[in-house]
Amino acid sequence: MSTTVKFTLLFLALGFCRGLQDEYIDEEEPELVAQDSKYGSLWPLPQKVQISQIPYKLSGSSFRIVDAQMSSAGPSCILLQSAYRRFYEYIFAGAKKQQKNKRTGSSDLRELHVWITSTDSECDGYPKVTSDESYELSVDQPVAILKAPTVWGALHGLETFTQLVYEDEYGAKCINATSISDFPRFAHRGILLDSSRHFLPIKVLLANLETMAMNKFNVFHWHIVDDQSFPYLSRTFPQLSQQGSYQPYTHVYTPSDVKMVIEFARLRGIRVVPEFDTPGHTQSWGKGQKGLLTPCYSGSTPTGTFGPVNPILNTTYEFMTQFFKEISSVFPDAYIHLGGDEVDFTCWKSNPDIQAFMKQQGFGNDYRKLESYYIQRLLNIVAATNKGYLIWQEVFDNGVKLKPDTLIHVWKGNQEQYQNEMANVTASGYQALLSTPWYLNRISYGQDWRGAYKVDPQDFKGTEAQKKLVIGGEACLWGEFVDATNLTPRLWPRASAVAERLWSAKEVTDVNDAYSRLSAHRCRMVARGIPAEPLFSSFCPREYGGF
Ligand SMILES: *[C@@H]1O[C@H](CO)[C@@H](O)[C@H](O)[C@H]1NC(C)=O
Ligand SMILES: *[C@@H]1O[C@H](CO)[C@@H](O)[C@H](O)[C@H]1NC(C)=O
Ligand SMILES: *[C@@H]1O[C@H](CO)[C@@H](O)[C@H](O)[C@H]1NC(C)=O
Repeated sequence: MSTTVKFTLLFLALGFCRGLQDEYIDEEEPELVAQDSKYGSLWPLPQKVQISQIPYKLSGSSFRIVDAQMSSAGPSCILLQSAYRRFYEYIFAGAKKQQKNKRTGSSDLRELHVWITSTDSECDGYPKVTSDESYELSVDQPVAILKAPTVWGALHGLETFTQLVYEDEYGAKCINATSISDFPRFAHRGILLDSSRHFLPIKVLLANLETMAMNKFNVFHWHIVDDQSFPYLSRTFPQLSQQGSYQPYTHVYTPSDVKMVIEFARLRGIRVVPEFDTPGHTQSWGKGQKGLLTPCYSGSTPTGTFGPVNPILNTTYEFMTQFFKEISSVFPDAYIHLGGDEVDFTCWKSNPDIQAFMKQQGFGNDYRKLESYYIQRLLNIVAATNKGYLIWQEVFDNGVKLKPDTLIHVWKGNQEQYQNEMANVTASGYQALLSTPWYLNRISYGQDWRGAYKVDPQDFKGTEAQKKLVIGGEACLWGEFVDATNLTPRLWPRASAVAERLWSAKEVTDVNDAYSRLSAHRCRMVARGIPAEPLFSSFCPREYGGF
């Protein structure tokens, strides 16, 4: 059978299986054609790039990444020094052994000078939503120069530099004379991982952070606990994970694990924003903290089951005060995600004490008012720790009074609905973060990265001022069907599509050019040991597993 016939049969078969397809398959998509991009394998595409046809050679034995003399970050900046080693390894790992006596030629690039231009390099700090991540890269003889106001821009520039390196036909490392000026379109570019539905080993979290850095993501939204398990080991309330984790010794994040994740992320310019979602999604909290959850009733007798956090008890707020005091000191980021989504009112409605409280407060039968009462008190508790907060959109939808700097995380609905929501959130003057079209736990046959790629978070009806309130977005990988076995290939390179949308200019929308660069970028992730899945039939110069 010829290939054409086989493919025809395949497509006929697919046509008959229409019932299995979901709305995410777009059959009208034309075939993508992989042709070399004039931007090589850069991903995400920088704001301004000019790559010449003039190649220089890089020799593993002589090439060095060093501080520029004028740099405000010296040899004591561990963050940069370790980055130089890491990126050197990325460039030369797997390179053919340098021939002895190979003299460095006149066409060699000898050094990359990294020049931090602000007086405060931020070397010892944490990245912030307001951090300057811009950089300028000039690759030319005799040395390449990377200029950035802060170390965060320098890290991005180093990644870009390594992406410019390619192998010529003899396997020698080359880089073309290039000039780049770059900065992110959005300040908040996140990945949500869920370590409650399945426990995610530290190794997996670190590999993901490494891959995030390759894609210029800068926020790890750690959905650390949920109904199913409570793996966060709290110093103040150790019984939470003792009773609420899947396994209290092997399936928990100890204080030193958490520290390690935060530092590993910092060294890569990534913020760690933890989410402790309440009052719903808290079944696992109830195991170690008696009296925290609402007892459900059948008529006048308790059923022995529990609902959301009990919002009518003083002890609830005393617990939350102590708990979030700890969280605010363990996690250095200025923001905590407080959840607030999907609160089921059934149990609250069944409980006579809650019914009495509703009456006393004059809430009538509107349980959203009770939810708002709880969230309001929680927000005050967290605000008192000097943290800002993110919350899922329901909290906004229910009209809870919020601090003006609250970030509203949009996750619900179809395209029309989430665009309305973005419009409403920003019309109310709040900053918005988009995730609805980027629920990457939803998988489908074919190249679904394209759907994620085509989204524009500022595409809704609103003024320029409203568009400016869009702070960015997050790709979410919820964990019901994800653990260490499949997390990385399921997330990458699909999340890379989101990375480019959040970093590159609005006008960067050519899917064919993206396909070419993304295929190469995916192979680069594979070469660096990341099992990123293929986009379509193809091969990589270095396949996974090192052959
Ligand atoms: C780099 O230079 C080589 C040699 O001139 C050329 O073939 C190649 O297309 C250039 N790469 C890019 C991305 O322009
Ligand atoms: C809860 O606290 C409020 C104010 O702090 C107090 O007036 C009330 O009596 C307390 N309720 C209980 C049941 O202790
Ligand atoms: C947005 O606001 C409009 C007008 O106030 C309202 O009709 C609509 O229901 C709101 N949409 C959402 C998703 O809340």
